[in-house]
Amino acid sequence: MKRVLITGAAGFLGSHLCDRFINEGFYVIGMDNLITGDLKNIAHLFKNEHFEFYHHDVTKFVHVPGNLDYILHFASPASPIDYLKIPIQTLKVGSLGTHNLLGLAKAKNARILIASTSEVYGDPLVHPQTEDYYGNVNTIGPRGVYDEAKRFQESLTMAYHNFHGLETRIVRIFNTYGPKMRLNDGRVIPAFMGQALRGEDLTIFGNGTQTRSFCYVDDQIEGIFKLLMSDYHLPVNIGNPHEITINDFAKEIIKLTGTNQKIIYKPLPENDPLQRQPDITLAKKILNWEPKVNREVGLQKTFEYFKTLSAEELQKEEHKDFSKYIY
Ligand SMILES: NC(=O)c1ccc[n+]([C@@H]2O[C@H](COP(=O)([O-])OP(=O)(O)OC[C@H]3O[C@@H](n4cnc5c(N)ncnc54)[C@H](O)[C@@H]3O)[C@@H](O)[C@H]2O)c1
Repeated sequence: MKRVLITGAAGFLGSHLCDRFINEGFYVIGMDNLITGDLKNIAHLFKNEHFEFYHHDVTKFVHVPGNLDYILHFASPASPIDYLKIPIQTLKVGSLGTHNLLGLAKAKNARILIASTSEVYGDPLVHPQTEDYYGNVNTIGPRGVYDEAKRFQESLTMAYHNFHGLETRIVRIFNTYGPKMRLNDGRVIPAFMGQALRGEDLTIFGNGTQTRSFCYVDDQIEGIFKLLMSDYHLPVNIGNPHEITINDFAKEIIKLTGTNQKIIYKPLPENDPLQRQPDITLAKKILNWEPKVNREVGLQKTFEYFKTLSAEELQKEEHKDFSKYIY
């Protein structure tokens, strides 16, 4: 049985990856320090004899007994609301954590895939973004802690590839959504759905003409899986290029949830990118991958998930504090 280590296993993407690898017949070792993740996302796997979990901070030395065939490094706060709250941990998990996992991959002769992000392009000056665009990042801006950690992570990964001949993969993930997202992660989909379920008006930051493109989680996981199994070591964008304005998106949510909320507007926070759209030509060519789930279906499944949350969970004050939201 092939053995895979997944860091960030209790988080949104990590938990979906655990499910996918279990379903593919792997032995899965999940690792997480639960700083932004939640064990409930993988609770259903605890009875599975092909799954084990380590409660561990990957910025500390990482030890896993036995052999490993693959490592997927997904541990990192991922949403602005999180990394603004824990900026130093964010820098450490991208740098020290990545270093520890690359060292582990080298020791175990494992192939490692690193979760990078569209944020390496910063506030992009070209649209859509291709992998050869170098980006436009403010090192000392509020998003710098995340963006630069991820840029360093990519450099370190390439150094291990070039210097040690390590088998590495780098995925640049664009906005992804689906069940198991956190209600208060500061992203627009849980924000709108939480507001809809509480019967509140939907808050838009700025005038709503900024665009986003959203990839459904099943598509994202499929792209990541294909990249891991490919022989391509340079960064690959995985995301959905279909763009929508936040205004149109809010209208879609109101229609989907069958409610009558109004839309209210608040000032746009600093460094909120106005446009973000992946060019996925490379992924199509080398992985034969493109997103398949249309937004209506993906949003419906996501809304079904949020509807399962308890009223108590929905009403928590932290889920209603929109003062720090940046999507
Ligand atoms: N969700 C997206 O749209 C998106 C977009 C771009 C990149 N990514 C990347 O994908 C990865 C997962 O993102 P997500 O959306 O699932 O976020 P998430 O916050 O749901 O999951 C991240 C997980 O990492 C864990 N973690 C953080 N620091 C850790 C540490 N030092 N040691 C061990 N575990 C630690 C957290 O507890 C959490 O469970 C991140 O690396 C993120 O940068 C996600």
